[in-house]
Amino acid sequence: MSDPVDPTTPRRKPKPEVTRLGGRKLKPSTLMMGYGYDPLLSEGALKPPIFLTSTFAFESAEAGKRHFEGITGKRAGGAEGLVYSRFNGPNQEILEDRLGVWDGAEDALVFSSGMSAIATLLLAYCEAGDVILHSGPLYAATEGFIAKVMGRYGVTYLDFPAGAGREEIASKIAQAREMAEGQGGKLALIYLESPANPTNALVDIEAVSFERDAAFAAEPHPPIAIDNTFLGPLWQSPLKHGADVVVYSLTKYAGGHSDLVAGGVSGARQWMNPVRALRNTMGTILDPNTAWMLLRSLETLEIRMQRATENACRVCDFLKDHPKVEGLGFLGLLREGPQKDIYDRHCTGPGSTFSLFVKGGEAEAFRFLDSLKVAKLAVSLGGTETLASHPAAMTHLSVPDARKAALGITDNLVRVSIGIEDAGDLIADFEQALAAV
Ligand SMILES: Cc1ncc(COP(=O)(O)O)c(C=O)c1O
Repeated sequence: MSDPVDPTTPRRKPKPEVTRLGGRKLKPSTLMMGYGYDPLLSEGALKPPIFLTSTFAFESAEAGKRHFEGITGKRAGGAEGLVYSRFNGPNQEILEDRLGVWDGAEDALVFSSGMSAIATLLLAYCEAGDVILHSGPLYAATEGFIAKVMGRYGVTYLDFPAGAGREEIASKIAQAREMAEGQGGKLALIYLESPANPTNALVDIEAVSFERDAAFAAEPHPPIAIDNTFLGPLWQSPLKHGADVVVYSLTKYAGGHSDLVAGGVSGARQWMNPVRALRNTMGTILDPNTAWMLLRSLETLEIRMQRATENACRVCDFLKDHPKVEGLGFLGLLREGPQKDIYDRHCTGPGSTFSLFVKGGEAEAFRFLDSLKVAKLAVSLGGTETLASHPAAMTHLSVPDARKAALGITDNLVRVSIGIEDAGDLIADFEQALAAV
């Protein structure tokens, strides 16, 4: 008599993914509609249901044992299927598959915020005595986490300016290794942010990758991680330029509607495994409701980012010669020099977040901000609506004055994130707000 519960029966598999058609590789904008989800596994529901469950039933005790053997490494090949929602769930897995598509990444992980993604990554790679080498500036909370929190656990850091050339990068890598040796650790991670928040300064990823490879030759090397929030995933693909790990605040362009907070980390499985293990332990994973919202957002990501960028180009074209504007930090206006060279090699579009320097100081910048009628006065970026904020008095208030001055975060700097409204309406809004200055 056969056993009614066959312990070798695997869970039903989804149908194979179609990613090529007649020799043609399907584009991310096509794959966002269905990749990673088989409706027939969910009662035929065209869209994935939201799986609100904390745990998943095993088919048999033997299947449960096999699963844990896979998770703990007692059996090669890892674990298949789902077991507990602190580790993963269907909505998050579909989202991870789709996020990975954009960057051509083998694996991706989603988190409860951009900062929990970054914190989990840093904690996964660093031990006491280690050094993090990072570009500067970074998003203020990231800089604070590296300096203040990682510092408490014996991890130190060294930074280099975003625009640094090959020689300076090479010398900082050597310096960071020396520093690590002196404190009994290693150079654990090279962490970049490009474009940098809030200056839009670009980092030469190819140069960092070249110098890292040259410095480490055949030795095990530290991964290069990069925060790609401002341009990714549409306008910059850092894995193609030598980065190993891409980091996102998915709160921004990926979410795109200023209605959720989330983060992501993508890269080769080799680099993701330690991050996944720590996320499993800490539970910094994204919740299923927000994952579902992000699946919806990713369907329109390309058209939203394209439209916002077109709008930003038109608005900046209007602003660039305005008598009350001292300058613009917009990637679409780079004309020559090393930053333009990096832009041409790494970026396929300028995005829609830029710095506007109003003639005058804080008073003039505040008058401009208070006069905006269509654009909203709020921090954050990458939403469908246009936002404007004052970094020196808001997001970067805690940055020491000397560092602010060195980074060009001045009192007349307004950071703008252009949305997908009508470009003519946005120009009219900026025109009347500048008239009020
Ligand atoms: C470049 C960059 N990285 C990371 C973050 C942090 O992301 P979150 O707010 O989703 O935690 C932000 C937030 O503004 C950001 O601008």
